Amino acid sequence: MIKDIILKYNRPGPRYTSYPPANFFHQEFKTEDYHRALVQSNFEKPENISIYVHVPFCPKMCHFCGCNTDKLDNKETLERYFDSILKEINSVAGLLNKNRVVTQIHWGGGTPNSVPFKYIEKVMARLQDLFKFSEKAEIAMECSPAYLTKDYIFNLKKAGFNRISLGIQDLKLDVLEAVNRSPARYPIEEMVADIREAGFTGLNIDLIYGLPLQTKKSFLKTIKEIVKLKPNRLVTFSYAHVPWVKDSQNVLEKLGLPSPEDKLEMFLVAFNELIESGYISIGMDHYALPDDELAFAKREKLLHRNFQGYCTKETTGQVYAFGSTGISQLHGAYSQSIKNTSQYIKEIQENNLATERGYQLTEKDIVVRKVINEVMCNGFLNFSNCASELSISVEKLKEIIKFDIAKFEEFKNDNLLEISEEAISINETGMMIVRNIAMAFDPDLAVNTNQYSKTI
Ligand SMILES: C[S@@+](CC[C@H](N)C(=O)[O-])C[C@H]1O[C@@H](n2cnc3c(N)ncnc32)[C@H](O)[C@@H]1O
Ligand code: SF4
Repeated sequence: MIKDIILKYNRPGPRYTSYPPANFFHQEFKTEDYHRALVQSNFEKPENISIYVHVPFCPKMCHFCGCNTDKLDNKETLERYFDSILKEINSVAGLLNKNRVVTQIHWGGGTPNSVPFKYIEKVMARLQDLFKFSEKAEIAMECSPAYLTKDYIFNLKKAGFNRISLGIQDLKLDVLEAVNRSPARYPIEEMVADIREAGFTGLNIDLIYGLPLQTKKSFLKTIKEIVKLKPNRLVTFSYAHVPWVKDSQNVLEKLGLPSPEDKLEMFLVAFNELIESGYISIGMDHYALPDDELAFAKREKLLHRNFQGYCTKETTGQVYAFGSTGISQLHGAYSQSIKNTSQYIKEIQENNLATERGYQLTEKDIVVRKVINEVMCNGFLNFSNCASELSISVEKLKEIIKFDIAKFEEFKNDNLLEISEEAISINETGMMIVRNIAMAFDPDLAVNTNQYSKTI
């Protein structure tokens, strides 16, 4: 049974949003290294440009939040923050080859839609001035329904956005109240109708399970209501409880958190309901309607993933991040900007870029990253095809990942995958614990994996 398999493999391990994972980033990677990596990225693949813009501000803090947020203290900070973003965009654009096209822009936070629209408009205009956009570019913003208005929705469309992600989290008002989150500003059905009327081609909805007052029954009710809205994509995040990093989460313990078993029940009840309603499981709590590009990419084994979520290989680009805390994911390096808002502003004003930490990938890392990405996203790997894409021999590829078929014995006995010296193919149940399988391809995984969260 799926439940037994998930419980059996509920061990700590990296989520592989990046390889190497973000805990490998270090402060010896400095602004000069980022500058060099930016220039170098022009000669590396993918040629496409993905852009991430981070807006850390939230008018009210949700107790569960694990994101990098900042309570907006005054208007002057807002002005200076967006002025710094524009400055950072100028600096980075000045180093990039203008023939490369932008295929993806993602605004996240914090709550980007809580700031006056004029700031969004200015940044979008600057990006359009400095970069060439692909006609098929996916341009998305994470929006909290608590602050979204019909005007804002239509303005976003006018500024070029074609996707909205609504952070609904739960429809149960007492859950929202317990976690200090304001409910939607107006009925969700009307908001979704406005998003469609404005002409957005994609709607994503974020939900979380594992919060106080949530039960299997209540979460199923929320899922059923959400399905009626027919979002193209949907994510059911497992609540990550890390009070040692986020002090505000301690309040939730006092209210009483569901047990891991209850959380698993919530995940499964949501999974079954979504599959029965026609959604396709993309992986790791993500779902899409069958006609969505992600579902198509999943079928064709053309899925890819970055810090912003899943994307298709067609829209995949090297990611250039702007704003505090943003992580640029280039072919050869990762670079994260300063997290603290005022320090980020100061550093950009003085030095144009604001690297806090990062990581320079070795040739070996690039090989392991490709293998882990294919396994995590597509559940399939043909060693010889993968080696030729990397321009190395199969023997070299296997040597780098320390391939040993014996490491997969337990998964094989549990009927989670098929494996040979030629290829590995993971089935639907195996994809539920795919990060455990990916760990078997990670040659240098630390013996002590307790620093990572468990699956549930
Ligand atoms: C930056 S937030 C979303 C934008 C917007 N501020 C909102 O709340 O609607 C991105 C998503 O991360 C998820 N999230 C935040 N904290 C989390 C946590 N501790 N565990 C799991 N998911 C979390 C939420 O589902 C949220 O929609
Ligand atoms: S969940 Fe969204 S609105 Fe709530 S504090 Fe986090 S970023 Fe802000």
